[in-house]
Amino acid sequence: RKKVTLNTLNNLYKKGEPITMLTAHDYPSGLFVEKGGVDTCLVGDSLGMVTLGYNSTNPVTMDDMIRHCQAVCRGAKSPFIVCDMPFGSYEASIEDAVRNAVRLIAEGNAEAVKLEGGKEMAETIKAITKVGIPVLGHIGLTPQRQSSLGGFRVQGKTMKDAKYLLEDALALQEAGCYGIVLEAMPKEVASFITSQLNILTIGIGAGNGCSGQVLVQQDMLGAFDKFVPKFCKVYADISSIAVNAVKNYTADVKSRKFPDDEKNCYKMKSGEDKKLQ
Ligand code: KIV
Ligand code: NA
Repeated sequence: RKKVTLNTLNNLYKKGEPITMLTAHDYPSGLFVEKGGVDTCLVGDSLGMVTLGYNSTNPVTMDDMIRHCQAVCRGAKSPFIVCDMPFGSYEASIEDAVRNAVRLIAEGNAEAVKLEGGKEMAETIKAITKVGIPVLGHIGLTPQRQSSLGGFRVQGKTMKDAKYLLEDALALQEAGCYGIVLEAMPKEVASFITSQLNILTIGIGAGNGCSGQVLVQQDMLGAFDKFVPKFCKVYADISSIAVNAVKNYTADVKSRKFPDDEKNCYKMKSGEDKKLQ
């Protein structure tokens, strides 16, 4: 596959061709993104929930993101790689934010970073883009702020809230974001925001009027046990395929059907085995 760059994404946006984004958290999920022809891969901090098993994304560290981003990059060679800035890595100061964004690129191998928040993050985003790191914004349902949002809740349901979202989107564009993730908001709101911008939008739970779509890979593969968001389409039932395979393995070992003498075993050189008697 041909390497996807920021130019490729901007060309898709200009042509009006939907951009595909999917998360990956390790080498195998990175390979799936590569082989499935996805344009841009998000090493999301959903890592914390669907891969590390935490109840939120908040415990995820910079070291977690760097290690997992490196693994994804070994599998996903063609997609444009975006890495999430984890909770706590960019809020306290602009210096922190720039230093940590640089680490995700220099150590993690990412090509762009994503961070959550609206106009209050504009100065931070300006500083990161100034050192040559592309930034993807993220507004609407911002999971790192779930405590103050009162949980994982749909945003922008009233005209007043929709207006705030539009103001945030315009501030992020002005700050230099190359695109914005719009998460969990009515389709009309996301479509309107998209129409008011001249940078691409990537929707998740935001309807079919965005410039592209993103899903969490474990959610769409049916590999996460705790919940499936309403907006997610589930394309496979990986969990039951895996559990059935494990059950078959367990039964085979218990009944000595596995390992098979012919298929799964090494043999001594001919005649040598006799000497063991
Ligand atoms: O962490 C993540 O996977 C994300 C997407 C849901 C947009 O931020
Ligand atoms: Na995220």
